[in-house]
Parts: sequence; structure tokens; C-alpha cells
Amino acid sequence: MMKTALITGTTGQDGSYLVELLLSKGYEVHGTKRRSSSFNTSRLEEVARAEGHRPDGLSLHYADLSDASSITNLVRDIQPDEIYNLGAQSHVAVSFDIPEYTADVTGAATIRLLEAIRASGVDTRFYQASSSEMFGSTPPPQNEATPFHPRSPYGCAKVFSYWSTINYREAYGLHASNGILFNHESSRRGETFVTRKITRAVARIAEGVQNKLVLGNLDAVRDWGYAPEYVEAMWMMLQQDQPDDYVIATGEAHSVREFVQAAFERVNLDWERYTETDSRYERPAEVDALIGDYSKAKRQLGWSPTTTFTGLVHRMVDDDVQAVRDEKAGRNVRVEL
Ligand code: NAP
Ligand code: GDD
Repeated sequence: MMKTALITGTTGQDGSYLVELLLSKGYEVHGTKRRSSSFNTSRLEEVARAEGHRPDGLSLHYADLSDASSITNLVRDIQPDEIYNLGAQSHVAVSFDIPEYTADVTGAATIRLLEAIRASGVDTRFYQASSSEMFGSTPPPQNEATPFHPRSPYGCAKVFSYWSTINYREAYGLHASNGILFNHESSRRGETFVTRKITRAVARIAEGVQNKLVLGNLDAVRDWGYAPEYVEAMWMMLQQDQPDDYVIATGEAHSVREFVQAAFERVNLDWERYTETDSRYERPAEVDALIGDYSKAKRQLGWSPTTTFTGLVHRMVDDDVQAVRDEKAGRNVRVEL
């Protein structure tokens, strides 16, 4: 029988890939979108373009994670088999500027969803988008047994959501799982996260429409994977008989500096000539190194990453070069979905 899924954060990077994955598996997919004064569905437009039309199985609903009634109504009306809570104020640096909002949307909103499930009595499976940012200053490698020491309002909010998910599993027997995902990227990554900021700048510099790239801390180390592979792991978690928590990562570590270097190399430019640093892009508290140990996911889910660091950098740079060329040629036209 056809399954129904509800995804919060459908318009984000992961949401758009998860929509594609679930549609390809024959799901009826319901997603949330926020009211915005400008188009905010560009990633889903990419999905529509790939399909050649607006996907038949996809419905979008206006909702906001800060508005309990919108969340409760969706859960009650749709009665989904699976719920993926991907919506969040997901920018770590921004969470220092809007900590209370981040605590609400990235933290308390998870309780809103879990309560909506419990109160409506719907028989569903729940996925919480937990984050390696929760490990914060605890040294790598990090796995499911590693203690959390968050270093940002975002990280604190994600720890609240993580434990709330486990609490509802233990208290009410919900099939609720946490995916503790390390950084994952793609050409749909938000333009202000470091990888995309770099690849966009490199493409624009190579195409002669930008002069330099200004960054913060180049020494930070991250474990960067490829987003489409990570949404596959989310789905796998909800297909297990028992709910559980899993680290999803590559185990491969690189600094921001190495990412910059590899990206400029792709277009045959010297990174040092075009890159500057400015303290305005540094954070009040930094997470120095995140490197994931995904052996539990490999063992229990049969999940492993396949895209290499170099492969990821090349793909993102190439896609951004193409996007700049399309922009120059006036080929980027937005439509309502
Ligand atoms: P993203 O691109 O920033 O997408 C976030 C989504 O949440 C967007 O659809 C956004 O809507 C929506 N959203 C923001 N505020 C909301 C609100 N008040 N009500 C309803 N929706 C709201 O993030 P992502 O990279 O896809 O990540 C997906 C999830 O995984 C997030 O929870 C993130 O914190 C978590 N995560 C990400 C990573 C990673 O490396 N990407 C790693 C670990 C965990 P708009 O499009 O309208 O802004
Ligand atoms: N964004 C940004 N912009 N980061 C910079 C910059 C810059 O100009 N310069 C250096 N960095 C450094 C940051 O200080 C950080 O150490 C690293 O690059 C990565 O920053 P982001 O790409 O913003 O990602 P993040 O690691 O803070 O958070 C992302 O990954 C988390 C999982 O670990 C986000 O996707 C979170 O939502 C996610 O939970």
C-alpha cells in the first residue's frame, strides 16, 4: 500500500532531496512551506524540473514550526505513516544573533510535533534531524556514545530535541529515531554555509563576476558528506523494526582551508590570491573538529557513504559554474510551486 509522509523543512536542502527519494519510492508526500515575501521553493523547482512537471505525489502546506496549531492540524489531517522533522533555524552563526527564536524553532518545536503525534494517537514513525553540532567541543572521533558539549544556541536546541525524541520513545513507545548527521553538502546547500559560500565564490571569480572570497576561521575541521546519500539514511532508520539513534558521517576530515584550496584548484586558480579572512565571520564559540564514526549505521542499517571529499568539491564547483553561466544567459527563472 502507498505510504504517506509528512516532512517539515521541505524547502531546505535535505527536504528537497528527501522529497525526491520518497516520491521515487511511491510515497504520497506532504511538505511544509513558510509564508515568505519572495519565492522560497527554488530547491523544489529543481525537483519539478527533473520530473518535467510539478510532482503529482507532492502537496505543500503553509505551516510554521512556531505555530503549534498549524503543526497539530497537519498531523491530524494527514495521518502520515512517517514524519521527518527537518525544519529548523539551521545556521549556527545566526543562532548567536537570534538565540530565543532558535531555541523555539530548532528546540521546542520538536515537542510540538511529538505532542501532536501523541495527542492525535496517529500510528506513525518519527525522524528527528539531530546534529553533530551537539558534540561541540568533545574531541573526535564522535559516535552515539560520545557525550554532548554544545557550543552554540543551535547546538543546545538540537540537544533538547534529541532528548525529547528519546523521551517520547521511552515514555509513550513512539517509533522515534534520531539521525545524528555530520555536515552534508550539495549544490542545493544554503549559500551562507561555508562550503557553498566557497564554491559559489570560486565559480563567480572564475567567471569574472566576483573579486574575492572573505571567510572566518580556516582551521575548523569538518566531516563533509554528500546530502542525497544522507537522506537515504534517514529513510532507512524509519524502516527498522525498532527505533534507534545513528551517527551518519564519512569519517574523513578536512579543514575549511583544504576545502578552499580544492575548490580553487578545480578552476585552476591560486586560492591564496583570492581569499581573505575577516573576524566578522568568526563565532563567539567555535566547534574545532567534527569527525564521525558511522560504524553503527554501517552495521545495523547497511549504510555507507560513497562520495569522496574531492568528488563533492568538484561536483559543487562544477554546478555553481554552470549556475553562473545560466544566470548570465538569463536562464534562471523562478516560478510558483
Ligand atoms: P536548511 O537548508 O536550512 O533547511 C531548513 C528548513 O527549515 C527550510 O525548509 C526552512 O524553510 C525550514 N524552516 C526554518 N524555519 C522554520 C520555521 N519557523 N517553521 C517551519 N520551517 C522552518 O537545512 P538542511 O541543511 O536541509 O538541514 C535539514 C535539517 O537537518 C535541519 O534541521 C538541520 O538543522 C539539520 N542538520 C543539517 C545538517 C547539514 O549538514 N545540512 C547536519 C545535521 C543536521 P525556508 O526554506 O523557508 O527557510
Ligand atoms: N558559514 C560560514 N561562513 N562558516 C565559516 C566561514 C564563513 O564565512 N568561515 C569559516 N567558517 C567555518 C565555521 O566557523 C565553521 O567552523 C565551519 O566553517 C563550518 O561552518 P558552516 O558551514 O556554517 O557549518 P556548521 O558546521 O557550523 O553547521 C552545519 O553543520 C551542522 C552539523 O555539524 C549546519 O548545517 C548545521 O545545521 C548542522 O547541524
